[in-house]
Amino acid sequence: MGGQFFRALLLAATAREVFASCAHGTFLQPRAEADGAVPISTFGYTGRIGPLNWAALDAANSACSIGTRQSPIDMVQGVFTMVAASDLTIDIPDFAEGTEFENLGTTIEVIAKGGTLAFSGKSFALQQFHFHLPSEHLDNGTSQAMEMHMVWQSEAQEIAVIGVYIDVVDGAAAVTSVAEPTPVERRGRFMRGQEPALQRRQNGTAVAAGTPTVLLETIFSVADAIATPGTKVTTPPLIMSEVVNLIKAGNFQAYSGSLTTPPCSEGVNWFVSTSKLGISAANFNKVRDIIGFNSRFPQNSPGQPNLLMVASTFAVLGASI
Ligand SMILES: *[C@@H]1O[C@H](CO)[C@@H](O)[C@H](O)[C@H]1NC(C)=O
Ligand SMILES: *[C@@H]1O[C@H](CO)[C@@H](O)[C@H](O)[C@H]1NC(C)=O
Repeated sequence: MGGQFFRALLLAATAREVFASCAHGTFLQPRAEADGAVPISTFGYTGRIGPLNWAALDAANSACSIGTRQSPIDMVQGVFTMVAASDLTIDIPDFAEGTEFENLGTTIEVIAKGGTLAFSGKSFALQQFHFHLPSEHLDNGTSQAMEMHMVWQSEAQEIAVIGVYIDVVDGAAAVTSVAEPTPVERRGRFMRGQEPALQRRQNGTAVAAGTPTVLLETIFSVADAIATPGTKVTTPPLIMSEVVNLIKAGNFQAYSGSLTTPPCSEGVNWFVSTSKLGISAANFNKVRDIIGFNSRFPQNSPGQPNLLMVASTFAVLGASI
């Protein structure tokens, strides 16, 4: 009975799935849109195509259910290494002509027009950045309104992702209950010419206070045009220096993890920024209506057994007791 059920599941899973994943635009999923068509993902976030069942959608997705370094995770002390932003070289030119903004069904994604990241003697090129709602990583146990993933690829086909939390801000003094930045932090920020007000919790992530990030407001100003999966629009010119400076003013919580979408490939160099971006409530509501929900459940700590293996072991034990 059980065997038949699983055979049926396996048969159902043999149809080749088309994925427009986190790795869209990288070697794992080259952008093949000569005809201008935007691919629509066939995995999802709920039910039988949701993250509990991603491994069954395609044999290539096995890491989703057996990998032991899966993302996202709860970013608590001990699972990451704090890396100074100055240890990375980040350079993203402004996208003066605007760029393509696509609805892949599972996320909305901005195609990069250049951008390099260098660390440990390796160089990566920015491919795209996309958005998750709510955040996939947890900031010391707490989900954030959204998370932006900037996906980079090296010549040697290594992948790095910079994750940046996005908070909803509603104008002046949105956040008052956090500690003031230290004079050193404040000086560093002003020396770098930082506009957005940032408040920093001790050793934790900063809180975007008051000001929506101009880059996000600019991108999402045309989000209505891509409300339907498979559609795309050209953004207005995008000034990238604002976000680059903001990220450089913080640090990174670094760990080795995976893509947060099928095929859940591991060996991904994660850098979760301690700086946060801000989004206006109006744009957050607009983006929420479009994305709905696209967050994979928090995975086990790096190096620990995959939670789906843990869960199935428990189910078998429970059935046999
Ligand atoms: C916070 O950072 C300071 C200085 O970097 C360090 O001495 C202290 O141990 C850290 N506290 C925690 C809770 O990690
Ligand atoms: C993380 O949360 C724990 C418990 O909730 C708290 O004790 C700790 O100070 C927090 N760490 C940071 C960096 O905020």
